[in-house]
Amino acid sequence: MNEAVEPTRRDFLYIATAMAGAAGLGAFSWPFIDQMRPDASTRALASIEIDVSSVVAGMSLTVKWRGRPVFIRNRTAQEIEAARTTALDALKDPLARNANLEGDQPATDANRSAGDGKENWLVMIGVCTHLGCVPLGQAGDFGGWFCPCHGSHYDTAGRIRKGPAPENLAIPELEFISESVIRIG
Ligand code: FES
Repeated sequence: MNEAVEPTRRDFLYIATAMAGAAGLGAFSWPFIDQMRPDASTRALASIEIDVSSVVAGMSLTVKWRGRPVFIRNRTAQEIEAARTTALDALKDPLARNANLEGDQPATDANRSAGDGKENWLVMIGVCTHLGCVPLGQAGDFGGWFCPCHGSHYDTAGRIRKGPAPENLAIPELEFISESVIRIG
């Protein structure tokens, strides 16, 4: 990994967002962290495996999966608490939008997190459910994600709380295949 060229996460998201704005929705080439760059054959695979052992609480990682960014966040205790204590009737979208759950489950924090013993982990498709921009992390009125394109605010469980986006950020199929490796897809 080259420290000199690796952007910070915030820089990285800024670049991605700027490119989305410049090139139009769904048509931008997406830069991502060198360490996580899969080769061409990996890109074609249905699933990817990511070692998150270096992602401590309060840090995030963004990886590319099936052509889209995926946000992986190791949430702080405060972020988890904020999400857990949010009343369900305060949510704009009441559904978990979690591909790992059967049927339409409610958007509780437990149903949004990576599961038992991994409640600190939040893994989501990093695409705004309004018109597809890439939201900024740890921003907005609810301390989660903020989409600057038209002002959608997501909370610390990735649930839409304010703005035009209709749905919570989608959670892809995922599984911890070891203590620190997540398989997505
Ligand atoms: S695309 Fe995110 S608010 Fe419109």
